[in-house]
Amino acid sequence: MLASSSPSTGMSPLMPTYSRFPLTIVKGKGSYVWDDQGTQYLDYTSGIATCNLGHVPEPVKLKLEEQLETLWHCSNLYHIPNQEKLASLLVEHSCGDQVFFCNSGAEANEAAIKLARSYAQKELGKERFEIVTFKQSFHGRTLATLSATGQEKIQQGFSPLVPGFRYLPFNDLEALESLVSEHTCAVLLELVQGEGGVIPAEPEWVKQLAQLCEEHGLLLMIDEIQTGMGRTGTLFAYQQFGIEPDVISLAKGLGSGFPIGAIVANQKAAKGFQPGSHGSTFGGNPLAATAGLATMEQFVATNLLDNAKELGAYLQAKLVKIKNLSNQIEEVRGFGLLQGIVMKQKASKVVEAARKQNLLLLTAGPDVVRILPPLTTTIAEIDQCSQILETIFKYSLED
Ligand SMILES: Cc1ncc(COP(=O)(O)O)c(C=O)c1O
Repeated sequence: MLASSSPSTGMSPLMPTYSRFPLTIVKGKGSYVWDDQGTQYLDYTSGIATCNLGHVPEPVKLKLEEQLETLWHCSNLYHIPNQEKLASLLVEHSCGDQVFFCNSGAEANEAAIKLARSYAQKELGKERFEIVTFKQSFHGRTLATLSATGQEKIQQGFSPLVPGFRYLPFNDLEALESLVSEHTCAVLLELVQGEGGVIPAEPEWVKQLAQLCEEHGLLLMIDEIQTGMGRTGTLFAYQQFGIEPDVISLAKGLGSGFPIGAIVANQKAAKGFQPGSHGSTFGGNPLAATAGLATMEQFVATNLLDNAKELGAYLQAKLVKIKNLSNQIEEVRGFGLLQGIVMKQKASKVVEAARKQNLLLLTAGPDVVRILPPLTTTIAEIDQCSQILETIFKYSLED
């Protein structure tokens, strides 16, 4: 059943910002979802890297139920115990010192952008406002974050863009020579470009980039919105690159599906904000903070990260095997449970064929199939996914 139409216009009452699949999902548990006809699907999209603990994870559900009985909302003008506990856990398990909470990834990057500008104006001088980002990046849909995004298709129709961003080619060592201008104050990047096509950063390039940031006093800001919360096999992707960013932005998996975003900054960068610089009515409210805290507690108390690492390697090996059997695949790439199949033709064909076999996948750009299992997935589920993919590549993709 699809969305009803508006009585006055006969059109969908929803603005056409999404081209939706003809599927209405009404229930989820673990790695599976069910549609309104009762059909079961293996959900290897995880709500776009969000339901990292699977659908309706019991420990988060129980804590949310408790919180629903006591207090839903409370302004940030008062102390919120679970928010402070969540901040402490994020600080304890990252290289950051202080946290600001908001509601989404775009808002987290907005906060990072404001923090960088404000830090620079105070510490480096008024002429230092420019933030360098990278081609094919994706940082969000608000005006500042789409201006930070290095993809014209995201920016088209929304000019004038927010000034103060400069885009360099990703993974290009030579281009780092032009990283620093007299105006540069910060660098913002993903360590695996998710929406841009599951493109991992080269470790040597990241090392040199971090070194340049250090030498020139630039803030190094890592967008961990898709790569964070265990997605790449460590709690945050930066932990695999031997760097210590000044700021990381988080959202998606942080609340296991309950909307919450955050930035975690070290003491140096956090100086950019003081009372009144930034805020959010809902950011880290009791319900959101409880979802975040219960999620983080699972990372601390269980072997989720080992599972993500081991099963990520298992999934990648399966995909490489399929690649070796097919002439339709250019490359398999990714980290942990963020994997991409680079196709020689349109990736949407595979996503479509998979849905018909009750497997949900995503694209990342026109030619990459993106696979995002929950971190709680199993070998048996990965086998189920790879068997479906094998059949698709064997029989369904002839032009
Ligand atoms: C790397 C990255 N940054 C930012 C965002 C924006 O997050 P949100 O959709 O929660 O605003 C996304 C969303 O896909 C993302 O993948």
